[in-house]
Amino acid sequence: MNTVRMGIVGLGMGGSHARKFLKGSIARAKLTAVCDLSPERLAPFEQTTKVFARPEDLFDSGLIDAVIVATPHYSHATVGIAALRHGLHVLVEKPISAHKADALRLIAAHRNKKQVFAAMFNERTQPCYITAHTLVRNGELGELRRLNWISTDWFRTDAYYARSGWRATWKGEGGGVLLNQCPHHLDLFQWIAGMPIRVRANCFFGKYHAIEVEDDVTAFMEYSNGATGVFIATTGEAPGTNRMEITGDRGRLIVEHNTIQFTRNTVPMSDYCRKAKGAMATPDVWLVTIPVKNTVHDPHAAILQNFTDAILDGVPLIAPAEEGLRSLELANAMVYSSIKNKCVDLPLNAKRYAQLLRQLIATPPSVKTKSRSA
Ligand SMILES: NC(=O)c1ccc[n+]([C@@H]2O[C@H](COP(=O)([O-])OP(=O)(O)OC[C@H]3O[C@@H](n4cnc5c(N)ncnc54)[C@H](O)[C@@H]3O)[C@@H](O)[C@H]2O)c1
Repeated sequence: MNTVRMGIVGLGMGGSHARKFLKGSIARAKLTAVCDLSPERLAPFEQTTKVFARPEDLFDSGLIDAVIVATPHYSHATVGIAALRHGLHVLVEKPISAHKADALRLIAAHRNKKQVFAAMFNERTQPCYITAHTLVRNGELGELRRLNWISTDWFRTDAYYARSGWRATWKGEGGGVLLNQCPHHLDLFQWIAGMPIRVRANCFFGKYHAIEVEDDVTAFMEYSNGATGVFIATTGEAPGTNRMEITGDRGRLIVEHNTIQFTRNTVPMSDYCRKAKGAMATPDVWLVTIPVKNTVHDPHAAILQNFTDAILDGVPLIAPAEEGLRSLELANAMVYSSIKNKCVDLPLNAKRYAQLLRQLIATPPSVKTKSRSA
């Protein structure tokens, strides 16, 4: 195979991916078919590709080698499993499912490892996060002590939530800011620093908008080595902040505005703490300049190209779909902890979370504001 024949299911964000293929931005890939339940969404593509109203018909068509699943989260599992069973390579949008049990079913359907199975965690292509990942994973910070991420630059108006019926409901989306806006950050958090062993969170549901789901979250995490972390996210705050701060024995890393500041302890703080004579002394530091390449202009295109190259050349995936389980697990655990009002040990019990989700769908927390129009 020299060119991958690509299909797309779901033409919201998927429509944006489709236009990249049609413009020729993805080398060695050709968009041959698209699928959406909505005729209006299909109409702009009728002149350029085959169009289908049902995913099964697309998968049976023999027109595609690979498919991008860009439908609302709940259907990622059903559509993704069907695509894998048809022997297609699959790229699934984030989050890989709405809840852990569905994600496990989706991952289990990836039996043939010759099929490439990727997830759209496009922020993994940004140089500042790649550099942070490399520094932490190479031990430049020493043993980690504290990980804080304030991720509050997701301000959304009521008009945003009124735009589409499935968003911000337990039944249609299965969560709020943790599932829609923050899968990227939760993914990066675990990609850079690993998974915590325990989560305690406070989620506020419909605090700033007339929605059922969480729009303000503060989560506390514990790691196996005793390190702790805090993750803060909201869609109800402007101006927002996007700042990741990681402190280890050897110093502190701050990632903000696509730059990295590394303040390095000249001696590990644990050694210094034992040996220093001064009661209030602190280790001398070096301010380390870390060159970070320019922001990737089109991170989605970078993932689409990597998916294509993985199919044709076997290059490693930037974001294997299986790894999408972790950010989902964190998001689900935060909601579970908040509603049950207790710490949650990871791995999260998938069945219990699915049960909680069913309860939330049946009886959503009351929507306080009355401004929502749809
Ligand atoms: N990676 C990113 O940066 C990014 C950005 C936006 C959205 N997304 C993800 O993309 C997914 C879709 O979000 P969106 O904003 O495009 O939503 P959307 O509502 O704008 O579009 C979804 C489309 O899927 C279609 N659809 C639904 N079920 C279908 C089915 N079974 N078969 C065929 N078509 C179906 C709908 O008709 C709709 O046109 C979500 O999971 C979201 O998290 C990712």
